[in-house]
Amino acid sequence: MSTQPALLSADHLSKHFPVRGALGRTVRTIKAVDDVSLSVYRGETLAVVGESGSGKTTLGRVLMQMESATSGRVLYEGVDLTALSERERLRYHRTMQVVYQDPFSSLNPYRTALEQVMEPLRVNDPDADNERRALDALAAVGITGSEVYKYPCSFSGGQRQRIGIARAVSVRPAFVFCDEPVSSLDLSVQAQVLHLLADLQDELGLTYLFVSHDLSVVRGISTRTAVMHQGRVLELGPTCDVFEDPRHPYTKALLAAIPIADPRLAREHHGPGWQERVVYDGGDRGGTLVEVAPGHWVAGGQGDSGNSKEGIAKDSGANKDDGDGGERVEQRSIPT
Ligand SMILES: Nc1ncnc2c1ncn2[C@@H]1O[C@H](COP(=O)(O)OP(=O)(O)OP(=O)(O)O)[C@@H](O)[C@H]1O
Ligand SMILES: [Mg+2]
Repeated sequence: MSTQPALLSADHLSKHFPVRGALGRTVRTIKAVDDVSLSVYRGETLAVVGESGSGKTTLGRVLMQMESATSGRVLYEGVDLTALSERERLRYHRTMQVVYQDPFSSLNPYRTALEQVMEPLRVNDPDADNERRALDALAAVGITGSEVYKYPCSFSGGQRQRIGIARAVSVRPAFVFCDEPVSSLDLSVQAQVLHLLADLQDELGLTYLFVSHDLSVVRGISTRTAVMHQGRVLELGPTCDVFEDPRHPYTKALLAAIPIADPRLAREHHGPGWQERVVYDGGDRGGTLVEVAPGHWVAGGQGDSGNSKEGIAKDSGANKDDGDGGERVEQRSIPT
């Protein structure tokens, strides 16, 4: 557990989406985020990992108040954002920014790099020297000279993502939600963008919520990691602990399914044309998070619970479903 004060916290946060049938009646509900409690501490990078559809983006969007919560609270330095009016919430918009997965669709194709970055600055403070500030932000991400007058279509994917990052950090936010910021980029460009994010964090004292389904990316960049499955946090702890000593069966299976980079070794391991996938059917019975080692929380107290402490701490992910905890995890190979 960190001694740092929390910058942003989810307190029993849920976001449910109704699925409507032909007559407009709700036929079922998707629990995209289901009773999650966790904190992001100032200056840290909290990674959220999980398979597609596990609720990572929704959790980030609700924390940013880009979506309203179904229930629970979002606390920004102790202030409950869900209780504020739209107008009062505007004050927090500058301090929380997003870097999106697809830099192309997040940029306006008819605006130059400079105009893209000036836009949020103008909204924030119309009277400031926003051109200078935008040029500085672009220079910080390596876009300089005549490049600043180019349109998004003239840039590579990596450069477009740099512009997206410049846009996010130009207004000097405290918190940046990075939603799969490198997953659309080539491996070599991914590394450059990750370095850039790390440098900017040091320089500007940023706090990141870093969402990714790529565990190898997360391992390099994050301080702590939360593992999500079906809207719930199943494990949360220091990244090295979660990776070196995973306690939850789902985390273990997820780690075991990290793709093997060398195609020859992968073929030898899995056979030709096969891809590993994690199948887990215990998400509904995750149980309350239990601290199994300092700062390392696991749903249902999986694994060694030596001096474990029942209950939900303010800084932990929490799943309050009191099921029987009988998970089944298997790793299957499925034809691609
Ligand atoms: N606006 C929406 N309306 C209805 N359902 C939604 C909406 N947004 C998300 N969902 C559903 O909520 C669940 C979680 O979605 P979310 O996008 O948060 O997952 P994710 O972990 O970010 O997935 P991915 O890795 O594919 O980006 C999914 O089942 C998704 O279909
Ligand atoms: Mg997503």
